Amino acid sequence: MSDSSASQAPIRIDGLSLSRSGRTVLSNLSLSVEAGQAYALLGGNGAGKSTTIAALLGLLPAEGGVMEVAGIDPVEAPEAARRVIGYLPENVALYEQLDAYENIAYFLALGGARPSRAAIDEALDAAGLEADARRLRTADYSKGMRQKVAIAMALLRDVPVLLLDEPTSGLDPRATADFNALVRQLKARGTAILMVTHDLLGAADCADLIGFLAKGRIVEEVATGPNLDVMALHHRYGEAAAA
Ligand SMILES: Nc1ncnc2c1ncn2[C@@H]1O[C@H](COP(=O)(O)OP(=O)(O)OP(=O)(O)O)[C@@H](O)[C@H]1O
Ligand SMILES: [Mg+2]
Repeated sequence: MSDSSASQAPIRIDGLSLSRSGRTVLSNLSLSVEAGQAYALLGGNGAGKSTTIAALLGLLPAEGGVMEVAGIDPVEAPEAARRVIGYLPENVALYEQLDAYENIAYFLALGGARPSRAAIDEALDAAGLEADARRLRTADYSKGMRQKVAIAMALLRDVPVLLLDEPTSGLDPRATADFNALVRQLKARGTAILMVTHDLLGAADCADLIGFLAKGRIVEEVATGPNLDVMALHHRYGEAAAA
């Protein structure tokens, strides 16, 4: 399917199949995320969530199907794709000897950007990193604090596509609520967000679509909204995770 005019969705996966170490990890996976939408991908450990993100980053060869990130095929043009993607990895790696400002300045400089101190502070405010912590070596940061630094970097890059792998996994309930509010703000800016999460309530709070992944395929996709039965979904999610 090379007809990209069929959908303008900034994130589009259609019929993706992929193996790792000879095992099928994704099979005929399809999903798309429109501008200004967030899609929450849920599923048990090993279901293929991080693999889906790695595929969109152009890090893994697809065996079938098509992908598009802001109109770019990440298999054909991985570097171009990565320029339009803000990516929050499952485990954020920072330079331990550097503080938050230095880490952000360093990583953004790799992409040719030189944000002002005020812009970095604004992003760290939005990500919710305490002002007192910003000058400490990140070696002394908790997991949640590292997440916040990485979220701030993604915000500063101001890209149309965000791929977030368990963005709230290290965050306390307050920080999680703040993060969900941030997702809503980003959607209002027109960003397309694909977020992997184990937090069903958070997904119901800030995502437009929730997809359950099991054994490399979407087994259920639901639209969120005031009529969403989160408890029923919680029971089905447990089933999907155990499948
Ligand atoms: N580097 C790798 N080499 C080979 N197989 C891998 C590799 N990384 C992941 N896999 C396999 O791919 C499958 C999907 O893994 P993936 O990391 O995408 O799961 P996940 O849904 O992100 O799980 P989790 O919730 O634990 O993060 C698993 O069966 C895993 O064993
Ligand atoms: Mg994962």
